[in-house]
Amino acid sequence: MRIPSGFLLGAATASYQIEGAVAEDGRGPSIWDTFCRTPGRVHDGDTGDVADDHYHRLEQDLDLMARLGLEAYRFSVAWPRVVPDGRGAVNRRGLDFYSRLVDGLLQRGIRPVATLYHWDLPQALQDRGGWLERDTASALADYAAVVADELGDRVHTWTTLNEPWCSAYLGHGNGVHAPGLVGRVEPLVAVHHLNLAHGLAVQALRARVVADAQVSLTLNLHVFRPDGPTGRDALRKVESLANEVFLGPVLEGRYPDAVLETTRDVTDWAFVRDGDLAQIHQPLDVLGVNYYNTNRVRLWDGTGARQQSDGHGRSAGSAWPGAEDVEFLEQPGPHTEMGWNIDPAGLTELLTGLHARFPELPLLITENGAAFPDTVADDGRVHDDDRVDYVRRHLRAVLDAVDAGADVRGYFLWSLMDNFEWAYGYSKRFGIVRVDYDTLERTPKDSALWYADLIRSRDLGT
Ligand code: FCB
Repeated sequence: MRIPSGFLLGAATASYQIEGAVAEDGRGPSIWDTFCRTPGRVHDGDTGDVADDHYHRLEQDLDLMARLGLEAYRFSVAWPRVVPDGRGAVNRRGLDFYSRLVDGLLQRGIRPVATLYHWDLPQALQDRGGWLERDTASALADYAAVVADELGDRVHTWTTLNEPWCSAYLGHGNGVHAPGLVGRVEPLVAVHHLNLAHGLAVQALRARVVADAQVSLTLNLHVFRPDGPTGRDALRKVESLANEVFLGPVLEGRYPDAVLETTRDVTDWAFVRDGDLAQIHQPLDVLGVNYYNTNRVRLWDGTGARQQSDGHGRSAGSAWPGAEDVEFLEQPGPHTEMGWNIDPAGLTELLTGLHARFPELPLLITENGAAFPDTVADDGRVHDDDRVDYVRRHLRAVLDAVDAGADVRGYFLWSLMDNFEWAYGYSKRFGIVRVDYDTLERTPKDSALWYADLIRSRDLGT
């Protein structure tokens, strides 16, 4: 199975998950620094203080990417490194780091793909309300302008936000992500302010970056499978909260009826002001899709314990305001170490469905990959056949969608290297390169060698 020409094969990371150096060269604290320091929030009390020490090992990591032959690299810029207080003074040393990163990629023939916001909100903005505060949207646009002024001549593909679903619902609904708030209306307020931030940031980017730059948003669109007679009703609710609440305003300029119906007893959406939807509804050059697994849903009949296997951990709160009556059923295996089921067909369906609905919009897989309990073998290598199998099957699923007509421009494997997996700390390894957290030594796993081979031959085999 040949990879079509022009289809990019890359890998992805995010600032807080790999950089470390959290108090160096003028970086300010982010909500994840605070969250990690709050007892009980992150597995084993892990923090991103050192992470992969990428900040200090930039050259070595760039060489590693070149050795693997990556065609593109998706990274995120840490807002608190560039504008430590969230607003106002710009930290030159922070910008310099990303400028060196971009130059280093270009020198090695690797295409940079920059995400502006992968969850590390400056703590100073959280202190003023964070995503519950409308003003945070314009703060993101101002920060976008600073980054675009610096990198806009060299970065060709931009992503405003990574997975706003997580920021909104895991950050403000069930509280398993920073800032760790539990609420019902709060996640929806955050959704709207994130959507607004996206729209304002697109405009800030467009005014500054090269004319043919590609501007995108990355969503973790959920694929739900209905179960039994109440499955379709359950699906309508959770789809509205997970997918339509972003696709509607961003690509169609409105909050769809299903969203308003699902959230009827939660909010009247009075926080949406006149003119907001026009600001949010900006033309996009490409849509970023992150995909890992699927969910099976039905309505809870009120008897027995409600199943809640939505794959994002348990807490006092719900990530599904207005759809608390939806059950997330245990899925049949196999599962990855995250407990997420492996369902490559869901990716084909997602991509062909998006293409049918938005035929003019190119798509990019901005994340896909798997955590497995890797072990180092006696020969010093990591024989992660399960990860190779996962990636190969999902790449095939993407190519199936391409064959069916979907305009998919590339695939970014999550992740280049093992890193800080949010509330799971360092307990889950997604990398194709192993990181020894004692020595910080990097060792390409078999999956990295396989991926390098694939890039060289651009042939997936049969
Ligand atoms: C996604 C995140 C990414 C990583 C993967 C496993 O939700 O965008 O940072 O944690 O999951």
